Amino acid sequence: MQSALQARSKLPDVGTTIFTVIGQLAAEHNALNLSQGAPNFAPDEALVDGVTKAMRAGHNQYAPMAGIGALRAALAAKVETLYGVHYDPSTEVTVIASASEGLYSTISALVHPGDEVIYFEPSFDSYAPIVRLQGATPIPIKLSLTDFRVNWDEVSAAITPKTRMIIVNTPHNPTATIFSDADIERLKALTRNTDIVILSDEVYEHVVFDGAKHHSMACHRELAERSVIVSSFGKSYHVTGWRVGYCLAPAELMDEIRKVHQFMVFSADTPMQYAFVEALSNPQSYLGLSAFYQHKRDLLARELSESRFELLPSEGSFFMLARFRGFSEESDSDFVLRLIRDAKVATIPLSAFYTDGTDSGLIRLSFSKDDETLIEGARRLRSI
Ligand SMILES: Cc1ncc(COP(=O)(O)O)c(C=O)c1O
Repeated sequence: MQSALQARSKLPDVGTTIFTVIGQLAAEHNALNLSQGAPNFAPDEALVDGVTKAMRAGHNQYAPMAGIGALRAALAAKVETLYGVHYDPSTEVTVIASASEGLYSTISALVHPGDEVIYFEPSFDSYAPIVRLQGATPIPIKLSLTDFRVNWDEVSAAITPKTRMIIVNTPHNPTATIFSDADIERLKALTRNTDIVILSDEVYEHVVFDGAKHHSMACHRELAERSVIVSSFGKSYHVTGWRVGYCLAPAELMDEIRKVHQFMVFSADTPMQYAFVEALSNPQSYLGLSAFYQHKRDLLARELSESRFELLPSEGSFFMLARFRGFSEESDSDFVLRLIRDAKVATIPLSAFYTDGTDSGLIRLSFSKDDETLIEGARRLRSI
């Protein structure tokens, strides 16, 4: 249908995301998909049964706006055990309809027109568009092109009186790096005595490798007091299609976030919330995740050890970067298209995670796949 109206776009430069484009191409070419972070294996049967049980028990209507009380209490208890800080379930924990919704509600609630928001590139794709939709300015700071660490001196130089928020993401998508003690200390020092809010995207909080520690903002009281933490059940329980996550913040900030959440979605899916209460009663359901994914990381790395790719270290998340610049001068997008067409395997060019399309000859591989897919994907990548 042709509209008689002209939509005045708020995001004129935003088109279909690279994930959709690559997904469609992968399907057309019957390519194996190592591009998306969505697992291709089934979640725990007991979790699925938990949802069915909740539906049959009649939990099919609106949940309370902030989430069912039992889930908020279970989350507060988990966070207190893991990170040693108490969030009040009634005022400081909110169940959200996905981490994506949590990011949107938080930025929309706390960032005003004219504000500046610092974030790091390469980055998850929603941060900058959400900031722009508020009439605010996203300020991207590039991670080092060699090891993808934050240059805190650059952050310091980028902070102005208009800086309202810094968005951090550890473990990091797409580079698979994690924050160190030194990163935390610099972040503390830079935000001390400012009114800067930290939005901490911790959707991969339970996927940290080689015995390393996840630095949740919750672990550091000084940071927790100015942080909104966003996490996702979808990532931790292999159910990215169930749009449920959670958000932690001091009551003053959470109060504002809930105002947006309430008018955007009102509440997250009810039966899933009941199932997650049960799942959280077994800490192994999240504590076992690092070992589960470390096995997959190591399997993919081993299978690619004889390939021409240089693999970058993966410290956490479901991802690994692979450098092809050593054997090809193609742009990363052209290289990814060739991989889909010729090797029948789909990956993501790292340039897709930059607003200016920085291309350093790297692709992102996802290992949230069953072992057979990883072995076959690596075999196809070795053929290039
Ligand atoms: C860093 C990061 N943040 C947020 C999200 C969104 O999570 P959700 O599926 O819960 O909306 C993703 C999903 O890929 C992600 O990688």
